[in-house]
Amino acid sequence: MTEGENPPALLRVLNGERLDPPPIWIMRQAGRYLPEYRELRTRAKSFLDFCYSPALATEAVMQPLRRFPLDAAILFSDILVVPDALGQKVWFVEGEGPRLDPLISQAEWKLGDPGKAIQRLAPVYEAVERIKGGLPDGVALIGFAGSPWTVATYMLQGRGGDKDEARRAVYQRPADIVALLNLLVETTAQHLAAQVKAGADCLQIFESWAEGLPPIVFQTVVIEPTRKLIHRLRELGVTVPVIGFPRGAGAQIAAYANETGVNALGVDTQTPAEYAFEVAPDGMALQGNLDPQTLVVGGDALERAVRDVLIAFKSSPHIFNLGHGITPQATPENVAHLVRVVKGG
Ligand code: CP3
Repeated sequence: MTEGENPPALLRVLNGERLDPPPIWIMRQAGRYLPEYRELRTRAKSFLDFCYSPALATEAVMQPLRRFPLDAAILFSDILVVPDALGQKVWFVEGEGPRLDPLISQAEWKLGDPGKAIQRLAPVYEAVERIKGGLPDGVALIGFAGSPWTVATYMLQGRGGDKDEARRAVYQRPADIVALLNLLVETTAQHLAAQVKAGADCLQIFESWAEGLPPIVFQTVVIEPTRKLIHRLRELGVTVPVIGFPRGAGAQIAAYANETGVNALGVDTQTPAEYAFEVAPDGMALQGNLDPQTLVVGGDALERAVRDVLIAFKSSPHIFNLGHGITPQATPENVAHLVRVVKGG
């Protein structure tokens, strides 16, 4: 963005403005519900190869923008490129999800070097540069990373699903957990700073596994590392707004919104907009929270649900989004319908 230009709607809302209609983007907007993505995906041997190809990643970002008048693009990558770049083995099993060599089963945790990891992630920053160069006017570019705790749960447990083993490790090996989270704070700060340097206009931190934590543990593994991460980002000279998305945090979004330094709060499907509005600092932008399943169903049910979300978030600066990522079963037609309704059509 050059000086004097009108900033994209998404950035205006992140700066505290209320816009009607609100800007809209969709978590996982590039992905398997689009037939053109499924076709593109066949051109890389593995999902990680796809993520590390600036040409393929750039094309994946552009696909939903050609179909829908969205207000933001999100970098095509994955939260698990960070453990991969730190030297942990990461692979994706078709139809099942990610797998890693779990730290849990190792007596000594051999952790990687942040500087080297950032070097290995150079193709991601090249993708950001290319995407930035090809974006339509008014479309903001979002960079992202997983939060330290969410990425740590995958590193510890070796897969998604329940996080019991990762949680047990917090009690069994507290010093190791703190060391792991600190490493992820530093690596993730550098990773996000490099995305901003390459052209990202704002950032989102995915805290996808914020659920099920006692408040004291939530402080140690979610609040404290996120606070350090944002502090470190600012130290590195990053000034762009940061959206935090603590999925499943329930009542603890209050602490998250007030104590971490995030500039905007992603609200998940189960959380009442009124509750988020009540507990977030005055004027904080809220993002969310349409149920992704309505994009599978479509029709009147979708339209009603969209209008309910619009009304529920009326009091705050609002970024329209889902309360979690879009599913492969959603249809492009339903997404088009959603965007039309939000834009007042
Ligand atoms: O438009 C976009 O948002 C695409 C960029 C993106 C991906 N993953 C691509 C992806 C983003 C922002 C992510 C974030 C991500 N990755 C999260 C946080 C968001 C959330 O859903 O909670 C998490 C937990 C991951 C880890 C991950 N990656 C999982 C659990 C999976 C398997 C589940 C699934 O949806 O398949 C992935 C794979 C993945 N990441 C795919 C895509 C498009 C599908 C793989 C493929 O296309 O072959």
